[in-house]
Amino acid sequence: MADDLAIQHAPGPRLIRAASEAAGVDEALIEKLVHAFYARIRADAVLGPIFNAKVADWDRHLAQMCAFWSSVMLQSGRYLGRPMPAHVRLPVDAAHFDHWLGLFEQTAHQVCGPEAGALFVARARPIAASLEMGVAAFNQALPGPDRRYRRS
Ligand code: HEM
Repeated sequence: MADDLAIQHAPGPRLIRAASEAAGVDEALIEKLVHAFYARIRADAVLGPIFNAKVADWDRHLAQMCAFWSSVMLQSGRYLGRPMPAHVRLPVDAAHFDHWLGLFEQTAHQVCGPEAGALFVARARPIAASLEMGVAAFNQALPGPDRRYRRS
């Protein structure tokens, strides 16, 4: 039910929030997920070095990511930043985004259980896809429809 609402019908803010709350998503769960996820990211052989080269203040980054996910899942408006400019210059392509999503999915299911985990992943996927397109466009390599951005 929650999946149908979140994925197929592109619901407005109130329905997104209701679906999240029905699945048990609250600020405490978001904080647990964000901290577990970035602990894995920091230790990851592929993504760790990319993050560690950019993020000097991890407490600040974690707080920012909690605010971001709170805005996405609970529509709280706590995040006021712009994700795209933070990513376009990164040395990443489709493989990095797939790897990010794989780690995120694993962590979300472990930390949040299947229902809430699936909601987080359903929200992460289109955001990852749009960041990937942004990176491609920034590199003047926008792929055609249904194609992914791969660096040569
Ligand atoms: C290849 C995958 C990714 C990499 C390597 C990556 C890397 C980074 C790095 C290094 C920063 C910090 C930038 C800075 O402080 O200068 C950042 C910030 C951020 N990332 Fe990602 N990211 C990835 C995917 C994603 C995805 C899929 C999402 C959302 C679902 C996301 C959401 C954010 C947000 C909200 C910020 C904070 C931006 C701001 O307000 O400054 N990232 N990311």
